Amino acid sequence: MSISTENMHNTPKAGAQETLQAPLLNTYGARFPVLFVSGSGTILHDDQGKEYLDFLGGLAVTALGHAHPGVTAAVTAQAGKLVHVSNLFWTEPMAQLAFRLREITGWGRTFFANSGAEAVECALKLVRKWAGPERPTVLCAVPSFHGRTFGALAATGQPAKQQGFLPLPAGFAHAPFNDLKAFEDAVDSTTAAILVEPILGECGVVPATPDFLQGLRTLCDERDLALVFDEVQTGVGRTGHWWAHQSYGVLPDVLTSAKALANGFPIGACVAGERLADAFVPGDHGSTFGGNPVVCAAALATLDLIEQEGLLDRVPELGAQLVTGLEKLPGVRETRGLGLLQAAVLDAPIAVATVNSALVHGLVVNAPAPDVLRFAPPLTVSPAEIDEALQRLGSALAHARHADVEAGERSAAKGDDREETP
Ligand SMILES: Cc1ncc(COP(=O)(O)O)c(C=O)c1O
Repeated sequence: MSISTENMHNTPKAGAQETLQAPLLNTYGARFPVLFVSGSGTILHDDQGKEYLDFLGGLAVTALGHAHPGVTAAVTAQAGKLVHVSNLFWTEPMAQLAFRLREITGWGRTFFANSGAEAVECALKLVRKWAGPERPTVLCAVPSFHGRTFGALAATGQPAKQQGFLPLPAGFAHAPFNDLKAFEDAVDSTTAAILVEPILGECGVVPATPDFLQGLRTLCDERDLALVFDEVQTGVGRTGHWWAHQSYGVLPDVLTSAKALANGFPIGACVAGERLADAFVPGDHGSTFGGNPVVCAAALATLDLIEQEGLLDRVPELGAQLVTGLEKLPGVRETRGLGLLQAAVLDAPIAVATVNSALVHGLVVNAPAPDVLRFAPPLTVSPAEIDEALQRLGSALAHARHADVEAGERSAAKGDDREETP
């Protein structure tokens, strides 16, 4: 069956999206009307030949940009040699990546999975096994996001995402993010571990305060709890260190990684320090595809290239350039984030309208909240690309603000409540 994508770009025919959606489960609703066909570095191309600056990076995934030749070469070479043998055997890329991860964390033993949620599931099972049946509870933050599988969803501090899927697995408690006292009060004799993101990603890019993370470390030490940092979004250089916890100088007992680890190839990793690592014994956990040699070759190339190209050192300066530019844009109330994971908080709930307008202007960003825009460009982004993105964003914001004012005037004239954009 051939599907015409004609007119998808910006002004889709009403029927085009419905046709494409027909064979899919309805989890993503109406996608943006853009069909991407290729990319290079920070640039994406759609099927109409239009060029976009990708400042979302596939949701904080493509740290090296699109189609990095070094990653392509590693994947191609490995795919031509060996694609899969199962976890009953050794492969070179998997073994090398485990050592490489130990090098860049400075500690830990790894389990390889295929996604962020799977890495979190591994961490949840590990802390359960370590603490034993008398202490089943994992204390998590509200808000937070840890994934869509049942365990990760139960950990996720967002009741709206849990609705319709009850009952969720038991053994989860929640306390407000960045409220150390609330976490201290929430720990009881059943608590095994504390699980937090060092920077809330999906919940609007909210960095933990240094006191909060340090306080959690102390609390875990005093109460013999495991501290788990979900670095699925914040890891692999995004903050200017390999891991956000290194930016904070606070060590977890368990670390989850995914997203950027293989620059777009599906991978997850759960790294456990020696204090917990021995809790797992053979048979406790597994994965058919986890540690796949092609994906591990992509991850090895990604880590090597980040190092060889000196990308970690570039992040603070590039992040500062982005923040300075964002703060000058009319309509931006404040910025928050670390390194190249940044958010612009708008003075009106027009983030979705801005994202749509940004696409028209050739810029990809997203809106994790009605008044928040998120930026996670590749670590390879150039200063000139940041300037250009800021210019396109300025136009998109102006357009969205103008539409918002017009909508407000229309509804005021009608005597309605203020209209929500869109
Ligand atoms: C902090 C965090 N944990 C877990 C996940 C889930 O990752 P995945 O979508 O790969 O399952 C995400 C995804 O956004 C995330 O940001």
